[in-house]
Amino acid sequence: IAAEKNGYDHFMLKEIHEQPAALRETLRGNIKDQVADLAHFNIDDIFADVKKIYIVACGTAYHAGLVGRWAIEKLARIPVETEIASEFRYRDVLWHPQSLMIVISQSGETADTMAVLREAKRNGIRVLAVTNVVGSAVSREADRVIYTHAGPEIAVASTKAYSTQLLIMYLLALHLARVRGTMPLNELKELTGELARIDGLAEKVFEQQNRIKEMAARHKDVQNTFFLGRGFDYAVAMEGALKLKEISYIHAEAYAAGELKHGPLALIYEGVPVLALITQDHLVEKTMSNIREVKARGAIVIAICKANLQESCQECDEQIILPDVNPILAPIVGVIPLQIFAYYMAIFRGADVDKPRNLAKSVTVE
Ligand code: AGP
Repeated sequence: IAAEKNGYDHFMLKEIHEQPAALRETLRGNIKDQVADLAHFNIDDIFADVKKIYIVACGTAYHAGLVGRWAIEKLARIPVETEIASEFRYRDVLWHPQSLMIVISQSGETADTMAVLREAKRNGIRVLAVTNVVGSAVSREADRVIYTHAGPEIAVASTKAYSTQLLIMYLLALHLARVRGTMPLNELKELTGELARIDGLAEKVFEQQNRIKEMAARHKDVQNTFFLGRGFDYAVAMEGALKLKEISYIHAEAYAAGELKHGPLALIYEGVPVLALITQDHLVEKTMSNIREVKARGAIVIAICKANLQESCQECDEQIILPDVNPILAPIVGVIPLQIFAYYMAIFRGADVDKPRNLAKSVTVE
């Protein structure tokens, strides 16, 4: 088994580092003539008259689905509802007659996700699966399948599966935007061009690895942490908090920054770390005003901030700088520091990173 770790101490760290390559693999063949083209997955017929999309998944895959919702709504202008499978399956869903379901599952074997897939089909709704495992239950039963090419993911904490799921969400949003004509061609090409280079941007984040490790060393003894963001950053905050709680066992909560005043602000105390995602240019000032509120209560604010926004977040106590990237695509690079942070927090606390207590890689029973 050690050999399979390729010199890394843990599968999780190896898989974090495999992300640029996994992104490259997943990009391959999906961009033609500068535009995203997923027609070879045979999906155009099932999307033809679609007026509503449901995205359903669990855990990290659900977080990818949240990004998918925002990307598809923004670029392809189709209303999307993203929900956790275990909730969706017991809800009295008002199925939209012209709808389509996307299920996202790394393993393709998650029980709740499978149950929702079957329920959709019973209701005559077509299902597109996004999965990493060829021949998995989800891939066998869905009407169409798009594969992420992350390669085998061994660590219980999902990393490269998530970033490649995000990539598929963007490719799909851009593909649908092109087919539906919801974006000017030059804008479409520009964003697609940036997506085509996202592996290189992801690679650059590793320049900050030592800094993040030192940061983790400083904060390893904390009991609570908070993750804040708005829009796409909120989805990434949720993923960052899940990573930290599942492998380091530190209490981690993600909040939409604008929601703080509605309750969570009461939890802030002297010295508590708050990780703030700052990648959405048009929301920086809003998020900064929330940051001032937590700082005024003594929180230590760690900003995960795009290079071009560095000046705006100078008031933060610590900074991790991300390469400049279109805000829509920022989650792919923004999540990497949070994965690395969670990894080192777990290491410094002596936790079993690859096999966290109480958890299984895929949840095949309810
Ligand atoms: C993430 O780190 C998890 N361990 C977990 O939330 C996982 O993403 C979830 O169980 C869904 O799994 P799937 O993608 O295989 O369906």
